[in-house]
Amino acid sequence: MGNKVVSKRLLADNIYLMEIESKRVSKSAKPGQFVIVKMDEKGERIPLTIADYDKNKNTVTIVFQAVGASTKLLADLSEGDFIMDFVGPLGQPSEFIKEDISKLKNKNIIFIAGGVGAAPVYPQVKWFKENNLDVDVIIGSRNKDLLILEDEMRAVAKNLYVSTDDGSYGYDGKVTDLLKDLVQNQGKRYDHAVVIGPMIMMKFTSMLTKELEIPTIVSLNPIMVDGTGMCGACRVSLGDEIKFACVDGPEFDGHLVNFDEAMRRQAMYKSEEGRALLESED
Ligand code: NAD
Ligand code: FES
Repeated sequence: MGNKVVSKRLLADNIYLMEIESKRVSKSAKPGQFVIVKMDEKGERIPLTIADYDKNKNTVTIVFQAVGASTKLLADLSEGDFIMDFVGPLGQPSEFIKEDISKLKNKNIIFIAGGVGAAPVYPQVKWFKENNLDVDVIIGSRNKDLLILEDEMRAVAKNLYVSTDDGSYGYDGKVTDLLKDLVQNQGKRYDHAVVIGPMIMMKFTSMLTKELEIPTIVSLNPIMVDGTGMCGACRVSLGDEIKFACVDGPEFDGHLVNFDEAMRRQAMYKSEEGRALLESED
């Protein structure tokens, strides 16, 4: 029968939040992990980072943009409908969650979210808050209408900074401009950055944090097929090393990821010929 859609909310134009019933996933989910959703037998597998989970209600929250055929089908579901497959939690939990909490006490950490990337950032920031640790957060969107989870994030962040590319709300500029302003003009110091959003945003933000000498973690969302490390679809290069985002990630050192290759692969997967070519390589 599948997994029930318990609630559905439109967060911004074409961006949906859904709570899905799954006792198994909610019991073991940790911030940083993801699920793979499949709508029907022949459907595409959609990897989605876990945006929240409630072990008491047995629910897992996903946030997605309805862009392709599969995410549009998902967006068409209503409360009470069912998703055929909801597999997870997959991937490694966030690095910080595995660390000794006492070691995190004196660290200044900034989370930087671009657009829909605010969804996977939220459970991580919430985890810090639950463990009495303060972190700063930047969320950037193209304009005010596309900004999501602002209130939720404000409730868990020590300082929340918002930017819009068109200046319609908060800081006028991209997340990189805002980070530069905080560090270079407002005297902020950060020991770590966690950057999640579109690939191009993670690329440029990682270039900036390298310049600013801030160790940086990014969360990659390449195309995934099996989610088990067997098919090679989610292959990423980190320096000379090859990693698979589904089993080794999704989080990696942002200063090592070959973003240009990752973006090329993502673009190729959009066409049938490109997909066939990549599959023959793997
Ligand atoms: P977007 O294109 O609206 O960008 C969001 C923000 O990122 C911008 O407002 C800007 O501040 C920043 N940004 C974008 N390009 C930048 C650049 N070149 N330099 C510096 N900053 C830049 O984002 P969107 O439309 O919400 O993004 C959707 C994409 O995000 C989809 O491709 C989706 O797959 C991806 N996504 C990734 C994750 C993840 O886990 N990494 C999670 C959710 C969505
Ligand atoms: Fe197949 Fe990662 S999705 S190896």
